[in-house]
Amino acid sequence: MKKEDIKELLSKMTLEEKIGQLTQIRTSYYYNSNTSATGTASKLKITKDQKWMIGTVLGKLDAEMMSKIQKEYLSNNRFGIPLLFMQDIIHGFKTIFPIPLALSCSWDEELIEKTARVAAKEGSSSGYQVTFSPMVDVVRDPRWGRVIESFGEDTLLNSLFGAAMVRGYQNNDLKNPDTLISCVKHFAAYGAAEGGRDYNTVDISECRLRNEYFPPYYEAIKAGAKLIMSSFNVLNGIPATANTWLLRKILREEWKYEGVVISDWGGVKELIPHGTAENSIDAAKLSLKAGIDIEMATTAYFEALPKLCKDKNIEKLLDDAVERVLLLKNECGLFEDPYRGISSEKEKQTLLCGDFRKIAREASCKSMVLLKNSKVLPLSENKNIALIGPYANNPSILGPWSLDGDINDVITIEQGLRNKNINLQSVETTSFNEISREKVDEIIEKTQSADIIVLALGEEEEKSGEAGSVSNITLPPAQIKLLSYMKKLNKPIIVILINGRPLDLTNIIEEADAVLECWFPGTEGGNAIADILYGAYNPSGRLTMSFPRAVGQIPVYYNSLATGRPKELLKIEKRYKSQYLDIPNEPLFPFGYGLGYSQFKYDNFKISKNELSRKEKISCSIDVTNNGKYTGIETVQLYMRDKVADISRPVKQLIKYKQIIINPSETKTVEFTVNEKDLRYWNGENQYKSDEGLFEFTIGKDSSDGISFEVRLVS
Ligand code: BGC
Repeated sequence: MKKEDIKELLSKMTLEEKIGQLTQIRTSYYYNSNTSATGTASKLKITKDQKWMIGTVLGKLDAEMMSKIQKEYLSNNRFGIPLLFMQDIIHGFKTIFPIPLALSCSWDEELIEKTARVAAKEGSSSGYQVTFSPMVDVVRDPRWGRVIESFGEDTLLNSLFGAAMVRGYQNNDLKNPDTLISCVKHFAAYGAAEGGRDYNTVDISECRLRNEYFPPYYEAIKAGAKLIMSSFNVLNGIPATANTWLLRKILREEWKYEGVVISDWGGVKELIPHGTAENSIDAAKLSLKAGIDIEMATTAYFEALPKLCKDKNIEKLLDDAVERVLLLKNECGLFEDPYRGISSEKEKQTLLCGDFRKIAREASCKSMVLLKNSKVLPLSENKNIALIGPYANNPSILGPWSLDGDINDVITIEQGLRNKNINLQSVETTSFNEISREKVDEIIEKTQSADIIVLALGEEEEKSGEAGSVSNITLPPAQIKLLSYMKKLNKPIIVILINGRPLDLTNIIEEADAVLECWFPGTEGGNAIADILYGAYNPSGRLTMSFPRAVGQIPVYYNSLATGRPKELLKIEKRYKSQYLDIPNEPLFPFGYGLGYSQFKYDNFKISKNELSRKEKISCSIDVTNNGKYTGIETVQLYMRDKVADISRPVKQLIKYKQIIINPSETKTVEFTVNEKDLRYWNGENQYKSDEGLFEFTIGKDSSDGISFEVRLVS
């Protein structure tokens, strides 16, 4: 449809029909061809007629259902405006990839884009046009269960990987039916909930928002995301859903965003318990004025807008919002083909097809992070293995937000290991939180003949994800106890961790000989774990979120601001500096950290010059040598510190990185260039600028390591 045709269509629509386009309800309301809204729909008070005016739906679908629903809908909608189907397709659709936090540990943009491409092919074949992904909320609190959905604590990585996902979903060609429209979320700073408690208050200064939290949303939009979701939290006291500064000033005026804004689930009516709206009328007015186009899961717009639109200004806002929704439908070709070419046969051929499992296996391998290895890994095939623990043969390793994934498609750890044809004795302990003395005796008995113990431990899926906040981030005591019982057997112990957040691993690390963080690894998890344990894949994952030593350190992240009393600079002074008296300031495992089976040596650092003018660039390089026996991927990281700025700046900030594959005994030179643009930041006066003066750069393997050098920016 042409833009003019959309305008014309809009001019013919009644007020009620327009409000329908701005209201999103569950797909399940359309499962029955019964024309009245049943079940929970009746609670929403959607009338029989309004059901055929609703613009978008979210929830479970398959190709057959979609065709049926769309057909019935079109025959009832006065203008034949198609329904738009949305779903949370977060880390794969049928082929489930590792959780996003895990994917980010691959530091592999191309791979992340590929996973989104697969998800788009699968999801679109089942009838969806929109996915509520990526989530690019910067996260620094592992108590918050939704860290599983994020790309971690760093702004640059969230920006790069969020944009990669948008590209993967949309493929720059939304008219092509194998794409999905990407909805970036949750705007803004949802990840900074106080105390890590979901939906809780966020209070961040504007310059911190601009420097650290905003860029990933901006980059996702620049990559073409056509939809953005507002967050549940307040910013500056005002819920994002009603935050005009956020949704109009920043998003539309500054960033020139032209796409659609959708509230989060129930966000419009939640303005009432937030204490910023008295009733639904108020809530609808505040939301529409602030810039919410689509109200998800509640019906304040239906209740309030017929009255409110007597005001011409409000009617204009409504018309603009409806036009944007119609344009979105047009963007993905729905007016030309409301079914986007779907069929059950095509769906069957697409789901879990071809090389999708292969990509999932690669993604799982690259996401896992080897935290410790006292020369036990990789294993040789002739050793007898005892596999023990709640995840030994447990298929629930897809992770939260794998709504359409099927545990029957999962390769468990035991299956993965058996695929390697090894000698394996497996003892599953079904409970995560309890282990009886009898069970321990049984395990000990069965472990007698084993050379090596593999303990598959972790958190249950429900412990993370939305509303999955916890105050304690250690493994359940029963699992820690299991490890100490096993320790008494004097055999090497490898701990495999399946979980969704950085954990406090202080107890585990000391006792285990090797620890592999596998996160929730998805459909091919078991095969990937076996690949790593047996050296078919040399682990290359690097943490994108710090692992604290204790919950009391939270938030602990590498890019914190400088303080006036830095611990390391005040060596003689014992007290009166920024520190904990009982534990170190540093996390147990820092951002960027991860081991492999090769040892990489960095040397021969070179820099073109130490002065940088605004028009030039400088380059620096380092030689990386693989001193191990395995070919491996090394992630060379470049950090920066602005030593004197208008505001206090992070003690380190990742500005670039490169991944290289190096063969044994091979040396590769890695070069970075830096120019003035790389040095810019937002100061307290909302100016995006750089300061003349000293900058410190560090090239290293992780955020705690490296070779540092200074560069002076001159005019
Ligand atoms: C979540 C969103 C999600 C939406 C729709 C909300 O509760 O916060 O991330 O996209 O539900 O399922």
